[in-house]
Amino acid sequence: MAKVEHRGILLAGGKGTRLYPLTASVSKHLMAVFDKPMIYYPLTTLMMAGIREILLISTPEDLPRYRALLGDGSPWGVRLEYAEQAAPRGIAEALVIGEEFTGDLPAMLALGDNLIYGRYDFLRKAIDGDPEDAVIFAYRVDDPSSYGVIDFGTGGEVLGIEEKPANPRSHWAVPGLYIYPAGAAAEARRLAPSGRGEMEITDLNRRYLEQGRLRAHKMGRGTAWFDTGTPQDLLEAANFIEAIQRRQGLIIGCPEEVAYHQGFIDHDQLTARIEELPECAYREYLARVAEDLA
Ligand code: DAU
Repeated sequence: MAKVEHRGILLAGGKGTRLYPLTASVSKHLMAVFDKPMIYYPLTTLMMAGIREILLISTPEDLPRYRALLGDGSPWGVRLEYAEQAAPRGIAEALVIGEEFTGDLPAMLALGDNLIYGRYDFLRKAIDGDPEDAVIFAYRVDDPSSYGVIDFGTGGEVLGIEEKPANPRSHWAVPGLYIYPAGAAAEARRLAPSGRGEMEITDLNRRYLEQGRLRAHKMGRGTAWFDTGTPQDLLEAANFIEAIQRRQGLIIGCPEEVAYHQGFIDHDQLTARIEELPECAYREYLARVAEDLA
């Protein structure tokens, strides 16, 4: 099948109430996961999928902070646009907000508080499939009750998806990374608000399942997935990043490095970017990377 370009949507709104008071004056996705802002991780996941046109959605109060941090994306060879979500009316609303941005292209939607690390082949495989399908991923967790949960049949087919079930039918949680075909905004608009008044992403995924247009890819055990919804999650994710980075001497979720490896920027652009950075461990790391690649 011919490769189809995908647009990216990065959702970084909401109130982050579960992390209060940490989030009283700082947007959740700007908080540190060890040595870099949380948003760098899902941003680089989209870049690893080959996506270069990305819409970041956040609250009207927080958008200026994201613009200050990420700018227009040019140092990373990507184009970033910004849009407001006036109130947290649900994850599926991101597709409605991003309707014009995505146009008639499929989109990969990444939640700003999700961190995925490991082999990314599954992303390429998912993105290269039928562009008329919606794609979700499945990750085995011990306790899936705070996530969307997939019930798989014996042949690996999706039988159902439930949002935060009290008695999960499986251990397969749905990470905050989804692919939707063109026209997903129209599907999302048809959703009735849930009990908590939101346009639920699980309801949207169920619509595609009913239409026979939902694929679910299992992420292997060599991949790590974290959702940073609670203080404990945040600490665990930070400890994981710190341990791997220290052991390998390689940085996870570094947009400059990903941009270079993906061919979004060349060596001169990487060097120019490094010169813009203040003296810090991050700059020293990138200088080392650039020297090794020279
Ligand atoms: O992390 C994966 C899980 O994310 C999935 O397994 C669930 O099916 C999905 O519903 C979602 O569950 P959460 O309870 O984690 O969703 P939460 O309300 O925490 O929102 C996830 C992220 O999306 C968070 O970074 C805030 C952002 N968000 C959320 C809503 C509802 C927005 O920007 N706007 C919104 O309206």
